[in-house]
Amino acid sequence: MAEKKEKVLSVQDLVIDFKTDNGILKAVRGVSFDLYQGETLCIVGESGSGKSVTSKAIMGILANNAIIAGGSIIYRGENLLEVSEDEFYKIRGHRIGMIFQDPLSSLNPIVKIGKQITEAMLINSDKLKTMYNDLISDDLIRYKNTLAKMNIAITNEKKKLEAFISETEAKENRSKEQKSQDKALIRKKQQEFREFEKKTRDKYMDEAKGYKAILTETEKRAKKEVAAYKEKVTGEFKEKERELKQKIAAASDKEEKDRLDQELLREKEDFTNKLRITKAEAKRRALKIMHEVGIPEPEKRYNQYPFEFSGGMRQRIVIAIALTASPEILICDEPTTALDVTIQAQILELINKIKAERNLSCIFITHDLGVVANMADRVAVMYAGKIVEYGLLDEVFYDPRHPYTWALLASIPDVDSKEKLESIPGTPPDMIYPPVGDAFAQRNKYAMNIDFREQPPFFKISDTHSAATWLLHPNAPKVEMPKIVSERIKNSLEEKKR
Ligand SMILES: Nc1ncnc2c1ncn2[C@@H]1O[C@H](COP(=O)(O)OP(=O)(O)O)[C@@H](O)[C@H]1O
Ligand SMILES: [Mg+2]
Repeated sequence: MAEKKEKVLSVQDLVIDFKTDNGILKAVRGVSFDLYQGETLCIVGESGSGKSVTSKAIMGILANNAIIAGGSIIYRGENLLEVSEDEFYKIRGHRIGMIFQDPLSSLNPIVKIGKQITEAMLINSDKLKTMYNDLISDDLIRYKNTLAKMNIAITNEKKKLEAFISETEAKENRSKEQKSQDKALIRKKQQEFREFEKKTRDKYMDEAKGYKAILTETEKRAKKEVAAYKEKVTGEFKEKERELKQKIAAASDKEEKDRLDQELLREKEDFTNKLRITKAEAKRRALKIMHEVGIPEPEKRYNQYPFEFSGGMRQRIVIAIALTASPEILICDEPTTALDVTIQAQILELINKIKAERNLSCIFITHDLGVVANMADRVAVMYAGKIVEYGLLDEVFYDPRHPYTWALLASIPDVDSKEKLESIPGTPPDMIYPPVGDAFAQRNKYAMNIDFREQPPFFKISDTHSAATWLLHPNAPKVEMPKIVSERIKNSLEEKKR
């Protein structure tokens, strides 16, 4: 079954807070999910539920006031929350690509789009340098990761301390006694932090020194290896060049001479391509990718500016840029929200096509459960910083269990039946003061007393399907999903059979 598939990314118990002027905002509150090779996981939920924050954490582009308060993001055996900036640089935009809601904000308005597409390729155009970097990369990363782990551990602990202090000092109406107690507590925590810092430094610096020594050796070896490679390809070329030049000199007729001249030119080009990617080569690749993402007349479009493109075409360019690095994971954060409905469908189709052709794994983020059916293998429904229901597409669509998922299903506009939409009443909670119990309780007409007191755990419905709602507790009263939802499910199941 699907569970045998390889996990390419695994997010476990991710907790992300933001320091704000009004207090600590709890944006992501213990999110876990797996992304499987070649699959699309849709994360769906209303605005503000923590979808973008989750994807930014994966990309390593969280805002400065973010505090990673817990959890891990495992990619190729490594926790992305503990890797150095250098390694993240390698992963971000290379192994993992991302497309945002507004294509204009990811494009530079004053640079021709051809240049924007080739830019990333040309950054790594020096092949000798790339080769050297590849040779030392494992040792370099191990060394830098050790330092990064140390710094991240210390910074995180420091942020927690600062958050504690500002939260404590922001408390209103403290008695004098309370204040002095708080002060003592803060001092104690500061002392603890200093001890933690020292212990952490000692621990990691020892390790780092060992890795640094290994790295120095590797660097020496890599330099030699690169020099040898350069000598070899140069030697080979010179040899060919000499041969060809002799032949050209000895050529009896013009036709043969022209042919040999051409051959020499090709050899020269091959030779340069072995040392670095030329602009011509980058352009050739860019045009190919532009064609792949469905941009008509790529030759002409190559020299135009972003404003000369429609919204849909711009999003195609953003996708093209993400593809230049041949990522294995593509994160799409509401990529069609800013587009017209008809264009939306085309972009969704394009993403599906690219995903299949390149065997990509996708995380597709949307607030619109309506688009999920065409995209997802698996669905995670998010509410107030948590996943509330998680399962295979059919499980979440045809056997939804969480009242929030019901509400989302009821609010999908139905084109055929002109049914009146049941928009979800109420608003999401304030995430600086999230409710103690089930965050959806206030808006949930099926809420029970316990929903206001305690957060529900995940209840398993199948090996692949679970939902966090007290309604699934064995002692809960049996409630039926709203009629509008069950009718819709019945209709779409019938349609599916046909
Ligand atoms: N840099 C930030 N500082 C403070 N709060 C933030 C920051 N970024 C996001 N948030 C808050 O985190 C919560 C989740 O946001 P987000 O992930 O963007 O939601 P969405 O599900 O719409 O993508 C929201 O309450 C948002 O206001
Ligand atoms: Mg968002």
